[in-house]
Amino acid sequence: MEILIRDTPEASAQVAADVVSKIIRERANLVLGLATGGTPLRMYQELIRMHQAGKLSFQNCTTFNLDEYVGLPPEDERSYNHYMRSNLFDRVDLDPAQTHLPDGDAPDLREACRDYEQKIKDAGGIDLQVLGIGANGHIGFNEPTGSLASRTWVKILSEQTIRDNAVHFDDPQEVPRHVVTMGISTIMEARHCLLLANGAKKADAVRRMIEGSVSASCPASILQMHPRVTVVLDEESAYLLVAKEHYKWIERNKLDWQRH
Ligand code: PGA
Repeated sequence: MEILIRDTPEASAQVAADVVSKIIRERANLVLGLATGGTPLRMYQELIRMHQAGKLSFQNCTTFNLDEYVGLPPEDERSYNHYMRSNLFDRVDLDPAQTHLPDGDAPDLREACRDYEQKIKDAGGIDLQVLGIGANGHIGFNEPTGSLASRTWVKILSEQTIRDNAVHFDDPQEVPRHVVTMGISTIMEARHCLLLANGAKKADAVRRMIEGSVSASCPASILQMHPRVTVVLDEESAYLLVAKEHYKWIERNKLDWQRH
């Protein structure tokens, strides 16, 4: 894992935006995996700023999001479909036909999961997958103790995740209990993963992901088995890392071509 620690969430969002914009410029027909939640918002703002300044075009990108709530139609403002349109898609030159989210409103959810996997495959697989991490160590909505071999599937949210996500709903009772999420295997097949975390609330999950044993009790820990992961942290989310100074040492001593 490449671990990059910055003083503030603003500085870490800048690093994340640099990683994403670099691969967009370098690779034609890029397939980008995207995440929702509070964490990537600053990175999206920075990417929009680059686009508005004429320095970045998404015209040749295809996107696949990690997850969507079951039962919320795309026009529902609490859906991730709506989140993506208002926080990125409608503000850059992405072709709407090239953007994909799991269909949480499908009459047959199992078929929708299979269909999503097929679409990712048909697109040639994901080049760069953006990830957040839950306070319980989830990636996508793959909650602790779920299979580490999973593919896109319907998951039941844990009570902790429902509590964490209740801020986006008027009434905590309205938070859907079910989601469609890329599975752990789906995520692990992305050629490069970029995981972002900010704030002390994530520090324990970050420690377990990087320095704990690989275990379904912290699904993000499977990323230790991935050949190319960049983790971008602010100081608060990194504060429990035992080897924090070592990661900083490694970053300072990289050869130019080893930098993300
Ligand atoms: P957050 O969620 O960015 O809103 O903290 C991250 C996640 O649950 O993966």
